[in-house]
Amino acid sequence: MKVAACLAASIATASAFVPQSAPKFGTSLNLKQDFLEYTPYYDHSAVKVNTHKNKAPFTGKVVSTKRIVGPKATGETCHIIIDHEGDFPYIEGQSWGVIPPGTREKDGKPHAVRLYSIASSRYGDDMTGKTGSLCVRRATYWCPELQADDPAKKGVCSNFLCDTTPGDELKMTGPSGKVMLMPEEDPNTDYIMVATGTGIAPYRGFIRRLFFEDTPAADVYKGQAWLFLGVANSDALLYDDEFQDAKARYPDNFRIDYALSREQENKKGGKMYIQDKVEEYADEIFNKLDSGAHIYFCGLKGMMPGIQDMLKAVCEEKGISYDEWLKGLKQAKQWHVEVY
Ligand code: FAD
Ligand code: A2P
Repeated sequence: MKVAACLAASIATASAFVPQSAPKFGTSLNLKQDFLEYTPYYDHSAVKVNTHKNKAPFTGKVVSTKRIVGPKATGETCHIIIDHEGDFPYIEGQSWGVIPPGTREKDGKPHAVRLYSIASSRYGDDMTGKTGSLCVRRATYWCPELQADDPAKKGVCSNFLCDTTPGDELKMTGPSGKVMLMPEEDPNTDYIMVATGTGIAPYRGFIRRLFFEDTPAADVYKGQAWLFLGVANSDALLYDDEFQDAKARYPDNFRIDYALSREQENKKGGKMYIQDKVEEYADEIFNKLDSGAHIYFCGLKGMMPGIQDMLKAVCEEKGISYDEWLKGLKQAKQWHVEVY
């Protein structure tokens, strides 16, 4: 049985880049998070999808926008907390859409919606159930001729979001997606969560739900959640303080492995990518999947060919058919992918 963990300090750690000396989840607010649960808590049949569409978007309000990576990170990633006053509920693993203001240069039409995985649990970082958080990487364009970033070609929505200030209004759609939900019905389920960069977002929601909240799901969870995160270097790690805290509290139930592509080498002397890190534990991962674990992939679309090649090679070594193996995982709904 899990002891409910606490939240006050986590709100501070979530909303700023904080070094390792950050306050931990030590102070309990003794809040019971049961007011946004289904009956039974793992029943997802009533989970809401697309309550707000492009033509009638929801208006959310920015609570805070904080850079959460260190100075040597390869880009800028921000944690953005949005107030929805409880009127735009979602659950862990869903995404929100954001419609950036203004119009497209090419045809004068309004900008299209961009999707962002929600990085908080359904209760939000403040546990009120009235906020949700996004983890947004500022998209920049490196111009080979200029040998510099070209501001004219920077990403519209991610720059808009990373430049927001408290009180700014956001036009939002969703919540969308049911692919990345946690099944939750069997509290012994193992979760293998593989991310590159901002692909960490849904897993932060999972980890808060499983380890830091006083929810029915956390109360009974006895499985193992294993996080694999790939980023360029240690300054680019995301939410590391929260994850280290989860590991310290629940060493039997939570594991983390990082692939730091520009600080570590794989066994062939190349960049340590996430697929190389996962491969190091292939036997354990295959055994877990054989026993019903769920595996999730989120982040760069570009990681999937490497992941699939690696898994195929492991299957060959083990003398099993990759196609059959994958088909079995998909049929059993153990395989979850959201890449972009
Ligand atoms: P856009 O304006 O759409 O531009 C896209 C890219 O093109 C940018 O890199 C831009 O620099 C480049 N570009 C612009 N003009 C030119 C030009 N003339 N020539 C060449 N290149 C150009 N992102 C996150 O950060 N966090 C998330 O949690 C997240 N979750 C997602 C979940 C889903 C399900 C999906 C589908 C996507 C998710 N994304 C996430 C990605 C996000 O939706 C956007 O695609 C991303 O933020 C870029 O949008 P943008 O408006 O900033 O860039
Ligand atoms: P690198 O940038 O060193 O090539 P990003 O910072 O762009 O969000 O990327 C997150 C991590 O994913 C970085 O470590 C990046 O490495 C890595 N990455 C880039 N391309 C791939 C790929 N094809 N497969 C796996 N990881 C990748």
